[in-house]
Amino acid sequence: MVMAPLPQPWPHWPFLSLFLILFSCESNLHCRNGVEATQRVFLYPQSPKVSSIVSKAYRTGYHFQPPKNWINDPNGPMYYNGIYHEFYQYNPNGSVWGNIVWGHSVSTDLINWIRLEPAIEGTTPSDINGCWTGSATILTDDQPVIIYTGADTEKRQVQNIVLPKNRSDPYLREWSKPKNNPLIQPVGPGLNSNQFRDPTTGWIGPDGLWRIAVGSELNGYSAALLYKSKDFMQWTRVDHPLYSSNASNMWECPDFFAVLPGKNNGLDLSAAIPNGAKHVLKMSLDYCDKYMIGVYDLKRDMFVPDTILDDRRLWLRIDYGNYYASKSFFDSNKGRRIIWGWTNETDSTSDDVAKGWAGIHAIPRTIWLDGDGKRLLQWPVEEVESLRRNEVNHQGIELKKGDLFEIKGTDALQADVEIDFELTSIDAADPFDPSWLLDTEKHCREADASVHGGVGPFGLVVLASDNMDEHTTVHFRVYKSEQKYIVLLCSDLRRSSLRPGMHTPAYGGFFEYDLEKEKKISLRTLIDRSAVESFGGGGRACIMARVYPTATVDGATHMYAFNNGSSTVKVSQLKAWSMRRAQVNVKKG
Ligand SMILES: *[C@@H]1O[C@H](CO)[C@@H](O)[C@H](O)[C@H]1NC(C)=O
Ligand SMILES: *[C@@H]1O[C@H](CO)[C@@H](O)[C@H](O)[C@H]1NC(C)=O
Ligand SMILES: *[C@@H]1O[C@H](CO)[C@@H](O)[C@H](O)[C@H]1NC(C)=O
Ligand SMILES: *[C@@H]1O[C@H](CO)[C@@H](O)[C@H](O)[C@H]1NC(C)=O
Ligand SMILES: *[C@@H]1O[C@H](CO)[C@@H](O)[C@H](O)[C@H]1NC(C)=O
Repeated sequence: MVMAPLPQPWPHWPFLSLFLILFSCESNLHCRNGVEATQRVFLYPQSPKVSSIVSKAYRTGYHFQPPKNWINDPNGPMYYNGIYHEFYQYNPNGSVWGNIVWGHSVSTDLINWIRLEPAIEGTTPSDINGCWTGSATILTDDQPVIIYTGADTEKRQVQNIVLPKNRSDPYLREWSKPKNNPLIQPVGPGLNSNQFRDPTTGWIGPDGLWRIAVGSELNGYSAALLYKSKDFMQWTRVDHPLYSSNASNMWECPDFFAVLPGKNNGLDLSAAIPNGAKHVLKMSLDYCDKYMIGVYDLKRDMFVPDTILDDRRLWLRIDYGNYYASKSFFDSNKGRRIIWGWTNETDSTSDDVAKGWAGIHAIPRTIWLDGDGKRLLQWPVEEVESLRRNEVNHQGIELKKGDLFEIKGTDALQADVEIDFELTSIDAADPFDPSWLLDTEKHCREADASVHGGVGPFGLVVLASDNMDEHTTVHFRVYKSEQKYIVLLCSDLRRSSLRPGMHTPAYGGFFEYDLEKEKKISLRTLIDRSAVESFGGGGRACIMARVYPTATVDGATHMYAFNNGSSTVKVSQLKAWSMRRAQVNVKKG
């Protein structure tokens, strides 16, 4: 994903910098049906004053972020010669979007990061107006290459590459631009040159040629355009897209990868794909990351989804909360696929200016396909567990309707909690209404944690102030639909902060679950000061959220397990840990 600058409405603004407080204002198209997705545009008007002083307490302790300033999309993640690389859209000069370069950090464990100098800056005619999102590919002779979107002198979106200057440098600090950039121009009938960006990692087809897909608007529809190349330098467009859809008009940040049902080992899309593998096309639109599962028809060189849903509100989502522009990579170190996503601030832009930073990346997640082939599962990479300390352990706690059990003994501001909720009865499950699928946020608002149901709501209350004036809930409800059980995971932020002007939705996602067999539902929540990242049903539904409680600033918050459903639920296992602060970009490499 990229954000394109408007034609400068205040051509003089750089000279006002001392007095200028920036705030951004986005064209609004938030997951609304019937609203055509348009390119996000950030304005930079002048604001009279900083409205609030915000505390350092909101800065996360173990999520990825640079020491200061604005970040958005993760870019070009890869594992190369023993090192993980994470690049990111970065404004080196402030905590609002602008002046974007490719920030660069390296790690050996995906949790502790060393900060390097920016890897790509806009210096040539093919990226002078922007160096936006792209991907890394490791070519057959172990040659890493990054392909990214540049905004050229005419502000058209073009695709460029960079190569490491010195492959023996373990950190690949410096990257050089070959003379033949741009490699791909926005030409051809029906192609919008302002909606042509975010190339994927390359993969090799059966003909031995490299392929990439580029997010675009083609004849007013969204398409992942397919390009082929022998050498990653000269590209030709294939006469049909990898996949296109008229349910929307632009996809950002497409991601294309292979997965094996029921197996959490990842696949390298360029390697021989085993029988039974499925393919996933992920796309970013409506401020959400959505995906389709299907097969890659090698003869037609096309992605064929298993089911096509005309209403894009029904498309599956990587995360049902604040999570966008994700990108995955195959980790050859541990044989897994890992996905990174961007989570923005939901306080005000003047708060971001006062904080001096904005944007984090969600904890990298292992991603794989459920055994039934219908849904992706995600789980925080195991390395994050190295931050756990002071384990608290409980078993066999009965939660009757209205019960609240305080989880004591952990740092409630920086914690990792895993709970198994065992259902004593599922007969009382309320009937499911499929129309809820069209607006899960509305359903989470209407059927919130205080509305008693047959089975649920039950779950966690986190970042709660002493008197519960402020709290965030993460909870389940169980519904019955014909022979199936459908579980709802909600993360309700509406009472997360007493501070005015925060964006506090109630997020939600549904998933089918074989409760007759499983009998219990697990919840894992990572709490990190202003981040609440939840994984329901073993990672079947994930919700990333940002919250800014005043209680965080005062330092005293509480965490509870609760049940507000008629049926008793049993916490068969509860483990909670305080999380140490990780070394995130504090050290310069
Ligand atoms: C950041 O600001 C400095 C000083 O104004 C300027 O020289 C530099 O080019 C800016 N960097 C970017 C990436 O815009
Ligand atoms: C490349 O990197 C290696 C390892 O850091 C270093 O020894 C070598 O001098 C570098 N070569 C050049 C040309 O900079
Ligand atoms: C959208 O695509 C579907 C199938 O791909 C087609 O049946 C339908 O007519 C198209 N709608 C429009 C408005 O073009
Ligand atoms: C960022 O935050 C705002 C709320 O301040 C929200 O409306 C928007 O959709 C968020 N996401 C992205 C991807 O910009
Ligand atoms: C449970 O329900 C009661 C009554 O509706 C409500 O007062 C309470 O806040 C609810 N608990 C949670 C955690 O929301």
